[in-house]
Amino acid sequence: METVVSGIRSTGKLHLGNFYGAVRNFVQMQKEYNCYFFIADYHSLTTHPTPADLHGNVKQVLVEYLAAGIDPETATIYIQSDVPEIAELYLYLNMNAYLGELERSTSFKDKVRAHPDNVNAGLLTYPVLMAADIIIHKATKVPVGKDQEQHLEMARTFGNRFNRMYNVDYFPEPYAFNFTEKLVKVPGLDGKGKMGKSEGEGNAVYLSDEPEAIRKKVMRAVSDAGPTEENQAKPEPIQNLFDLMKIVSSSDTYNHFDNLYNKMQIRYGDFKKQLAEDMIIATSPIREKIHDISNDHTYLRKVARLGAEKARESASKTIREVREIIGFKSF
Ligand code: ADP
Ligand code: TRP
Repeated sequence: METVVSGIRSTGKLHLGNFYGAVRNFVQMQKEYNCYFFIADYHSLTTHPTPADLHGNVKQVLVEYLAAGIDPETATIYIQSDVPEIAELYLYLNMNAYLGELERSTSFKDKVRAHPDNVNAGLLTYPVLMAADIIIHKATKVPVGKDQEQHLEMARTFGNRFNRMYNVDYFPEPYAFNFTEKLVKVPGLDGKGKMGKSEGEGNAVYLSDEPEAIRKKVMRAVSDAGPTEENQAKPEPIQNLFDLMKIVSSSDTYNHFDNLYNKMQIRYGDFKKQLAEDMIIATSPIREKIHDISNDHTYLRKVARLGAEKARESASKTIREVREIIGFKSF
C-alpha cells in the first residue's frame, strides 16, 4: 500500500475552505492509503510563538482534525516534535542542501519580502525539514495545494541526492497528489476570492463558529441590489454565495434559488437565511465534537501517544537504516 504524508501548520482554527478543500479528502484517503498526518510544530518555530501559543495552536489543530473525521486508529496522526528522528534526518539532509537552491525557493523569497527583520536559517532550510517529514516514512504521495509543488520538487532532489551520494536506491520520489482530481475552491463571504483566515474579519466561516455567529456573518456577506434581467450572469459576490450553497445545501435548495434568481424573484434575505442554516447543519456535528474533544484531555493524550508511537516506529526504522548507509557504526 502506498504511503501518504501531509503536514498541517499549527496556525489556528479551521474554516470551511480548509474543510472542503483539504480535510475532507484526508478523511477519504485514510481508508485507502497508509496515511501519516502530522501537526507541523517544528515548522511553526520560524515565527517565534510563545510557549503558551505554541501549545494552544497544536491542541486546536489536533482537536479540529479529529472532530472533522480523521481517525487516529486508521491513520497515524501525530505531532512533529514528538518524533525527533525527523530532526535527525533534517540534519543529515542539510549537509547536501545548497545555499543557492534554498535561496531560490519562491516561498523563501516571499517570506524575506514579507518579514525582512526575521530571515532566520530555519526559514531558509524549511524545505529541507519538509523533505525530512516526507521521506522519513518513504512516502510517495503528498496531498498539498499547488503552492507546495516547488517544495515537493526539492524533497525529490534531496532524496535523490542522498541515494546518489551513497549509491543506494533507498528513498522513493514523493509527488504532490490531488485525491479528487477536481480541486474545490471555497469562496469567502466578502464578495471577492477565496475563503481564508488572512482575508479579513467576516470572510471565513469556522468549523467552531456558533450558529448565531454564522447567521450574522452570512447576513452581512457582500451581495448587490438584485438581478435586473432574466437569466442574467451572476456578478462575483452573488456567484460566490451560490457556490457556497452548492457545497453545503441540497441540489433542490440550490436549484430553487437559482430559478428564483433567473426569474428575478430572488430575495437575498431568504437566500442568505437558507445558506446560513445549511452551513449550521453542515458544521454543527463537527462543532459539537470540537467541544467534546477539547475537554477530553485523557483522549487527546491517548491520541497523541498512539500517533507518536506509530510514527516513531516508522521513523526510527528509517533512521536506523540511514545511519547504517551513512556509515555510523557503534564500537
Ligand atoms: P488559509 O488560506 O486560511 O491560510 P492554509 O493555507 O493554512 O489556509 O491551507 C490549509 C489547507 O486548506 C490547504 O491544503 C489549502 O489548499 C486548503 N484551503 C485553504 N483555503 C481554501 C479554500 N478557500 N478553498 C479550498 N481549499 C482551501
Ligand atoms: N509546508 C506545508 C504548508 O505550508 C506544511 C508542511 C510541512 C507539509 N511539512 C509537510 C505538507 C510535509 C506536506 C508534507 O502547508
